Amino acid sequence: MAMAAIEVTGLTKRFKEVEAVKGVDLTVYEGEVFGFLGPNGAGKTTTISMLCTILKPDGGKGHVAGFDLWREKDKVRQNIGLVFQDPTLDRNLTAYENLWFHALIYNIPTRERRERIEMVLKMVELYERKDSLVQTFSGGMKRRLEIARGLLHHPKILFLDEPTIGLDPQTRAHIWDYIHKIRKEKGITIFLTTHYMDEAENCDRIAVIDQGRIIALDTPQNLKKMVGNNIVYINSMEASGIIIFIKEKFNLEAKLIKNQVVVEVTDAETFIPQLLKELPYPVTSVSLKKPTLDDVFLKLTGRELRDEVITNGKAPAFHRRRRWQ
Ligand SMILES: Nc1ncnc2c1ncn2[C@@H]1O[C@H](COP(=O)(O)OP(=O)(O)O)[C@@H](O)[C@H]1O
Ligand SMILES: [Mg+2]
Repeated sequence: MAMAAIEVTGLTKRFKEVEAVKGVDLTVYEGEVFGFLGPNGAGKTTTISMLCTILKPDGGKGHVAGFDLWREKDKVRQNIGLVFQDPTLDRNLTAYENLWFHALIYNIPTRERRERIEMVLKMVELYERKDSLVQTFSGGMKRRLEIARGLLHHPKILFLDEPTIGLDPQTRAHIWDYIHKIRKEKGITIFLTTHYMDEAENCDRIAVIDQGRIIALDTPQNLKKMVGNNIVYINSMEASGIIIFIKEKFNLEAKLIKNQVVVEVTDAETFIPQLLKELPYPVTSVSLKKPTLDDVFLKLTGRELRDEVITNGKAPAFHRRRRWQ
């Protein structure tokens, strides 16, 4: 049985009239990359801050890295690494100096400091720039340095609040390479928040958080299964014949939308070959859309894929990307 790295129940936090976190129950297993996914204001930073003992919860209890959130706060802090949403590097120091300062705060023994600093700098490919001032770094380099810093004291859990916010797609992909490398090489548990739904796909499991509550928690694959269906689009001169054929043969309700036959199926990989093999009509083209986490969120927050198809008369939610800022 996998051991829990984080286990909390009933975590709540209110800021005056704002109920930021409304009772979060969560178990994260050792070695997992766990994502907290939700729109701006959902309560991600508030939750992660409570898990890191930076913010005192109003209620709830639990353990982080094996220590009690209330009674063993110092132990929790010694055993976690943190990368905040807003950068907290000293711009007027070099990369090396920033890490040296962190090593002092965490009481890393003098004889180990240099070696550890060099190791984490190499890990995030900043060793060559170790003596440059942080103010000369790009956004991506700063983020990498912060990740290096978060690893310096050998934490059991690394917390990252929006690790790739504001970075370009290429740099984001790069940061993700490091996250996976850290997990693989160091066996560290990683807990991160994000409002990028495509990025949440990189996590082993995701909790979807909205308005202070977890509204779903599962692997990205299972969440997408929950949305259900693959959608198959068929182009043919014989659309109405095909719709009848699909009804008779597969007992599925296909629809004609913008001159395309559109049908929802659970398993397109088997449906498409079977259809094409038996269909007595010529087909011009077939295309397929699979659900994304965007669709999961739309579904969870109340809008139905099905309605979209009918009301818009065009391809559903897939084309509409909602911004999560
Ligand atoms: N220090 C604070 N004082 C008052 N309200 C806050 C404070 N921090 C967060 N909030 C509110 O709590 C809610 C959740 O915020 P936050 O946890 O930062 O969300 P997220 O990180 O998901 O964007 C928001 O409505 C936010 O305005
Ligand atoms: Mg936040």
